[in-house]
Amino acid sequence: MKKTLQDLPPSLLSGAAVALRADFNVPLDRDAVADPSRIERTLPTVGHLVSHGARVVILSHLGRPGGRVRPHLTLKPIAAHLGRVIEGPVSFLPCSAGDPVRDAVAGMARGSVMLIENTRFLGGETAGDPALADDWAGWADHFVMDAFGTAHRSHASTDGLPRAVKRNGGEAVAGFLVAGEIKALGAVLRDPRRPYVAAVGGAKISGKIDVIQALLDRADTLLVGGAMANTFFGALGLETGASLTEPEKWETARRLIDAGGSRLVLPVDCTVAAAVGPGLETRAVDRSEVGPTDAIGDLGPVSVELFGRYLADAGTVVWNGPMGAFEVEAFARGTLCVATSAATAADRGATVVIGGGDSAAAARMAGVATRITHISTGGGAALAFLAGKQLPGIEALSDSAPT
Ligand code: 3PG
Repeated sequence: MKKTLQDLPPSLLSGAAVALRADFNVPLDRDAVADPSRIERTLPTVGHLVSHGARVVILSHLGRPGGRVRPHLTLKPIAAHLGRVIEGPVSFLPCSAGDPVRDAVAGMARGSVMLIENTRFLGGETAGDPALADDWAGWADHFVMDAFGTAHRSHASTDGLPRAVKRNGGEAVAGFLVAGEIKALGAVLRDPRRPYVAAVGGAKISGKIDVIQALLDRADTLLVGGAMANTFFGALGLETGASLTEPEKWETARRLIDAGGSRLVLPVDCTVAAAVGPGLETRAVDRSEVGPTDAIGDLGPVSVELFGRYLADAGTVVWNGPMGAFEVEAFARGTLCVATSAATAADRGATVVIGGGDSAAAARMAGVATRITHISTGGGAALAFLAGKQLPGIEALSDSAPT
């Protein structure tokens, strides 16, 4: 068990400089936050720290700038957004480390909030540079982890910093968002109600192979959709035409098909068009009848039915990744139907967990988000957790005393 914010006595927070790792990797539309859910889910933690008189220094990444300053990935608009929603000042420091941060922290008043610049503007962040972690720990009395979406990354701000804070005698604890994720996902991990049905989609299997394998070991059924399914079609020797596929992963997909047996369920038909884009004529075809110029954009109607039946009977549903290019109306049906079937399962008492920004957006688009048991703020992190993997950003936190 890891310590949470609730375990810290108020006297420890009063006047202390607290490094809060948040995941403000949110979609932006120019300078406006397009989907504020991740920011909103961190507000209870920010509010708690502010009300206990901490000096709150928020660290986050945005995008993958590759260790370079990329002006369009600045966190400045997010500081403005945060200030509006907490109805209090949030200062923004256009710098991520070193003396300017140390000096700014030293000048902060009790109960104030500062967001520093994108941690991934520094190469040391994703490299897990211990010197960078020590630099931040030089001013941080305590560390709070609320970036569940990034907890599967062993980076300087998620892994090195909490460890450095602990070495210096401070506490490193889970914020309310992370504690909530551990509680909700932990229940599914430990004791899923059967049948346990996982639905995984999205573009690629690369990067998800380990978790697909682990989910195959834990779930009773694994439904595979999205462009990821095309790679499995390729492994079966089926024509995928002009569809997105990863031929270099066909062998891996073949192994997963063999290992999964009847637990791995692929689409039996597809919705195709000349390209995956708006305004094109679409056709439903059996998966064995995809033509050399066809592009697969969604599940076909028979697969929608099939996946719906599995979800309807489930005691536990875990869903990550769209079943097709749902941003295009003609290819949205598979994803929206999975969202609706998952919500119907939840209405009947199933535990339904959705992970990943796209699936959460699809649940909102289908109008069913409020019926879902838990919408995780993590995509890859939620999958890794549910696959039973230890997340570095959680492992690094202080252990609570055994009860
Ligand atoms: C996410 O959006 O999944 C997290 O913020 C992690 O981002 P990353 O995949 O770029 O590490």
